[in-house]
Amino acid sequence: MELARFLHGTRDSRTDGQTLTHGRAYEVFGAVFFGGRRRHVFTRLAELSGARPGDRALDVGCGTGYLTLHIADAVAPAGSVVGVDPSPDVLAHARRRAAGRTDCTFTDGIAEALPGPDGRFDVVVSSLMIHHLPEDVRARAVAEMHRVLRPGGRLLLADFRPPANPLARHLVGAVTGPVMEHNPVHLLAPLVADAGFTGIDAGDLHPWIHYVRATKPEQAA
Ligand SMILES: C[S@@+](CC[C@H](N)C(=O)[O-])C[C@H]1O[C@@H](n2cnc3c(N)ncnc32)[C@H](O)[C@@H]1O
Repeated sequence: MELARFLHGTRDSRTDGQTLTHGRAYEVFGAVFFGGRRRHVFTRLAELSGARPGDRALDVGCGTGYLTLHIADAVAPAGSVVGVDPSPDVLAHARRRAAGRTDCTFTDGIAEALPGPDGRFDVVVSSLMIHHLPEDVRARAVAEMHRVLRPGGRLLLADFRPPANPLARHLVGAVTGPVMEHNPVHLLAPLVADAGFTGIDAGDLHPWIHYVRATKPEQAA
């Protein structure tokens, strides 16, 4: 169906994930999909990330930069945030959205081979990106997030939580496609643990979000 193709869109030769096009349309969809709660949910995600003034933060699969800007506010005044995404269209949208801000930059890249050296960031966040990756690629992406975090750095992953009600879940599938209908968000916490994170904490945000937050240990196990 068209909406599923729009949401899980086009192929990029560097990744088995599916990238987004149509940044502006995605914004409209996001507003409708969250039923007026988008700002509240993403403000809460920024709080849950533990991003603090002065931090260097990374937003993986940043899309149109909605969470990126919330994180930029959390790390201000002396901090900075980089948004990474393989889609030129959403990156252009994000750059327009952040015009005039020097603490917020956007760059081309993929989750499974993140740009940048080891230990560069205090905080890594990623929202609604993991389900774009095939399940066998997700561990590689989380391992990359672990690599670019400094020891003691914090991770926040948030992804789409299918409704528990079978009828509602079926409706989600009919509108957005099978990936979101069957998204196994219960596997996020084990994935994060397997990558070497500790202090793992998970929860849900109404209406659609499951999140996992964790810390990279100060010393390698
Ligand atoms: C549903 S959007 C979420 C965007 C944004 N994080 C948000 O919460 O609104 C998923 C994003 O993941 C990006 N994406 C897809 N495959 C990716 C990959 N391999 N690495 C990084 N980002 C990817 C898509 O291009 C898209 O912008």
